[in-house]
Amino acid sequence: MHVNGKQYRAVWMENSSVFMVEQNILPFDFQIFEAKTYRDTCMAIITMITRGAGSIGASAGFAMSQAFLEAPKDGFDNFVVQAKNEIEATRPTAQNLFYATNRVFLAGKVSIENAVKEAHTIADECVNDGRMIGEFGKILIKNGANVQTHCNAGWLGLVEYGSALAPIYLANLEGKKIHVWVDETRPRSQGARLTAWELHNENIDHTIVPDNAGAFLMQKGKVDIMIVGADRIAANGDTANKIGTLEKAIVAKHFGVPFYVAAPTSTIDMNCETGDNIPIEERSPDELFFQKGMDELGNIKNVRLSSPGSQAFNPAFDVTPASLITGIITEKGIVKPTVEEVASLF
Ligand code: MRU
Repeated sequence: MHVNGKQYRAVWMENSSVFMVEQNILPFDFQIFEAKTYRDTCMAIITMITRGAGSIGASAGFAMSQAFLEAPKDGFDNFVVQAKNEIEATRPTAQNLFYATNRVFLAGKVSIENAVKEAHTIADECVNDGRMIGEFGKILIKNGANVQTHCNAGWLGLVEYGSALAPIYLANLEGKKIHVWVDETRPRSQGARLTAWELHNENIDHTIVPDNAGAFLMQKGKVDIMIVGADRIAANGDTANKIGTLEKAIVAKHFGVPFYVAAPTSTIDMNCETGDNIPIEERSPDELFFQKGMDELGNIKNVRLSSPGSQAFNPAFDVTPASLITGIITEKGIVKPTVEEVASLF
């Protein structure tokens, strides 16, 4: 992505440090966070300095390679196994995290250099996957289309290009006129803060809508296609994505709006038979009680939004059954969400 005229990936590694675009302070400020150790990188994943399936995966791969670099000669094996467990506990729903730690862990059995090389390869593959998802997905977007999306499945969430946003970016580059309805995506507002920021950067016409406006827009015929990302896809096509995705898919089915999931095959968990087996991350109730924003003087503040003394329940993801999904856009092509077509990708 280009920010202030400079090309950035959402996450990268130089020497033994992992660098990430600090997503918690976007769009108010653009800063780069440096994680010097694997534990710093774990903390950055947990606190969502970096987030989104692909960026979590790339960061987890880099964290695993940092662990190999940090491991003491005495107790080397125990150190890296313990580190792997810690990295995998950071965001339990995101399949790319496990995909990356396993690959780098295996590569590290050959040599430390090989672990670092593998982590870089995973990040590079993620970028290429995003580009190919864009190439396959752009044909679904007609000139003049109104596209709806949920959460942020763009550059920030997939190292580069994005998953759900890649078809939009590539269709835009071809000169198609596109308008994007951006779901606000409470409680952390990844849509209003991050997707809107990305689309604004790319000069793509877009409008932020409250999460509960989806049915209204579709009823009025204002959505031609909905494209979302994924955090984990089961072998039968059931898909975990940001909380609220399921409601949109139900509404899209009701109003006959095509509903596509865009994700690299590294997000598909063939060991998960159905969505029932996908672990759902629960996050702090504070994400509902408070929200970060910028006041008129430019100060970033955390303000309380809800009545003190109440409880809150904050599941980060929900699972959309395959029956509500029109197709899955991957770097290898578009498939139907069936056991046979998902398996054909491997
Ligand atoms: O909790 P988040 O912000 O990491 O959730 C992100 C999503 O649900 C995205 O839609 C998904 O990871 C796709 S990112 C390319």
